[in-house]
Amino acid sequence: METVNQIHQLRQLLKDKKAENPGLTVGFVPTMGFLHRGHASLMEAARRECDLVVLSIFVNPLQFGPNEDFERYPRDEQRDLEIAGKAGVDLVFFPQVEEMYPSPTKTIVSVSGVSEGLCGASRPGHFDGVSTVVTKLFNIVQPDRAYFGLKDAQQVAVIEQMVHDLNMPVTIVPCPIVREADGLALSSRNVYLNEEERRQALVLSAALNAAERFIEERGREATAAELTRVIRQEIGKSALADIDYAEVLTYPALEPFATLEAGQRIITALAVRFGRTRLIDNRILNIR
Ligand code: PAF
Repeated sequence: METVNQIHQLRQLLKDKKAENPGLTVGFVPTMGFLHRGHASLMEAARRECDLVVLSIFVNPLQFGPNEDFERYPRDEQRDLEIAGKAGVDLVFFPQVEEMYPSPTKTIVSVSGVSEGLCGASRPGHFDGVSTVVTKLFNIVQPDRAYFGLKDAQQVAVIEQMVHDLNMPVTIVPCPIVREADGLALSSRNVYLNEEERRQALVLSAALNAAERFIEERGREATAAELTRVIRQEIGKSALADIDYAEVLTYPALEPFATLEAGQRIITALAVRFGRTRLIDNRILNIR
């Protein structure tokens, strides 16, 4: 596995590898590091499907608000490299902020609609930061396939819309959420939780399960308002949980709806604070 910090080094390496093997397919996994099994599942999928696997590790300041956790976002370079090596990554791109943003960027990629609700509403500017850095990374790596986890399902919807609108020559591969045995979705931010917050955070997956069960029981008679009520009731069982949002929308358009329809794909999406830690979780359901 090779590690590079500079854009020109990465471009030269990719150029050399493509010259040696003109049909080479490149799989790309963009991350902000502090890797866990969720990231490993993306790298492993890329390893299975592509000739060359590139991982980027870059905590992107552009997608953090002024009062968010950019400075304290967890980082562990050595452990990340071990995990990447085990998952079969070929090339790690590990740029510093000055390499990605040598001067303040005057170009912002902004996807309207899908980026505006949910996390877009509670974290203004967040998705502009994501779509801008992902565009830069796609331009640098020029992957054939790029792998994103569905824990950030809104991010996947935003990136897919951007790739479609801007004719980017890359296939987006959404990958399933990876959970702890007790149901908590893996996230680099789980390390912020104390023992009690970690225990109470299980209401997130419990709320998603409750909504899914409600649909199984009621079928298409279940309304979006009832589903939201079921979710909020379940989260309400945790004294520490402070709901940022709990919504039921169509997916991937992320539009509100009143009643369920056969063939519809919906998302139950949550963002909940436990102390200073904001966790997100979701489930995408196909309505029969
Ligand atoms: O999902 C993430 O880790 C980040 O939003 C991404 C896609 C690497 C962009 O910084």
